[in-house]
Amino acid sequence: LEKWFQDTSKAEEEGGPQVVISSLVVENARNQSAKLSFLTFSDSNYSIQAVVAASETVSRQMVKFSGSVPTESIVQVHAVVKKPNEPVNSTSIKNLELHIKKIYVVSRAISQLPVQVADARRAVPSEDAPAEQEASQGERPLVSLNTRLDNRVIDLRAEQNQAILDIKDGVVRLFQEFLWARGFKLAQTPKMLGAATEGGASVFELGYFGQKAFLAQSPQFYKQMLVSARRKRVMEVGPVFRAENSNTARHLTEFTGLDMEMAFEEDYHEVISLLEELMLHIFDGLKTQYKTETDLVRTVYNVPEFKLPEAGKVPRIPFWEAVAMLREAGVEIGDYDDFSTPQEKRLGQLVLEKYGTDFYVVDKYPLEVRPFYTMPSAETLASYDPANPNKGYTNSYDFFMRGQEIMSGAQRIHNAEYLEQRMKEHPSHANPKEEGFKDYIDAFRYGCPPHAGGGLGLERIVMLWLGLPNIRLATTFPRDPGRVRP
Ligand code: 4AD
Repeated sequence: LEKWFQDTSKAEEEGGPQVVISSLVVENARNQSAKLSFLTFSDSNYSIQAVVAASETVSRQMVKFSGSVPTESIVQVHAVVKKPNEPVNSTSIKNLELHIKKIYVVSRAISQLPVQVADARRAVPSEDAPAEQEASQGERPLVSLNTRLDNRVIDLRAEQNQAILDIKDGVVRLFQEFLWARGFKLAQTPKMLGAATEGGASVFELGYFGQKAFLAQSPQFYKQMLVSARRKRVMEVGPVFRAENSNTARHLTEFTGLDMEMAFEEDYHEVISLLEELMLHIFDGLKTQYKTETDLVRTVYNVPEFKLPEAGKVPRIPFWEAVAMLREAGVEIGDYDDFSTPQEKRLGQLVLEKYGTDFYVVDKYPLEVRPFYTMPSAETLASYDPANPNKGYTNSYDFFMRGQEIMSGAQRIHNAEYLEQRMKEHPSHANPKEEGFKDYIDAFRYGCPPHAGGGLGLERIVMLWLGLPNIRLATTFPRDPGRVRP
């Protein structure tokens, strides 16, 4: 049929070509009269009109039946392709029409769908305005995010959601192709662990044959253990579980982590440079290969363009400089405080004003706000004070888009004794259950090169690239504290 579609002159022939098309999606069906009904078929790639007219071979009963097939049903039709008498509007295949001779319902959708695909082509209402207020006069009210997510199978059918899923597929491919070309190998690490990964409280517990196990909060320890196991450049794409009861527009309890870890030669800034290049490769790929998809989604939410830095010119701002920028703008913040969410957003605006970009890196976070396994900076190591072991900075970095964190990474401690010392000193490990960390720490007893890495959140990047108001819109079947289905 595609060939016929391309050569429309053939469709003008009297009688036209006779075709049988399976798996057509009914977008709309209506009875015009006892002798005539109209249907529209569509999916993400096409939309085509069809007519069923009573004739010697088409009974009135069939006309009536065709006009009442519910939206979203799947049908097979036997039809003649013709040029329409009048051009039809708003279809991607404008100059062809199907004249149906026979129609079979392959899968009948229920007639009262819980949400309409058309509703999923529109924005979700913003959290502080009731849906009715947002829709313009005479329009149907916007459907709430929850209702749409409850009926995600229908919701995902909208072209905008297909575009989001395609973009996610693209980000994973761009991530992997960039790193493969630089000698990284894909790793698979366990997601059921005998100990809580990074020692924090935010892990899901599960029963494991009478013992306790935990869902991996990150592949952190295992990617480092792989570096020790002579896999010097590793990456992983996999699920990450967080038992945090945070009901925000940017937190999930399960997300897709894009992780990498590598041994470096001289300095961890080699890793930052590679990560910056990686991110620019992803953005460039999205800009050139996913322009249609990106525009389709950004239009729904009126999102300003994402301002990218030139290659090699990603702003890399030391933590104390970011603090100074905030203070200059009247924000109160301590020397070693982590940024709050509003402070991060403010910093995003300041960076945009100063450097003209929505993408930047903050380097050298304070010791106190990073995990115990983070390598202190050379200056902090040189001025070590046992009475005040958590003052100072680290070789760690966060990457930001539009004032929100998308990646977190660092150089890690690769000396077992020092790692044990940091575990005891670090505020988040007042009562370290060291036996849980034995396998991890042992990896460094057996020799391990200096290494650094980072972890990106797939749904976060996609949300921020597209300017979506909620991370759930960038998640295929989202999981949050209030949602474990569908
Ligand atoms: O900052 P996070 O927690 O860092 C780690 O997991 C480290 N082990 C990574 C490393 O190599 N040092 O998570 C990394 C990224 C964040 O920047 C964010 O993009 C995403 O994962 N992320 C979340 N995405 C959705 N929902 C959540 N609850 C997320 N928490 C983190």
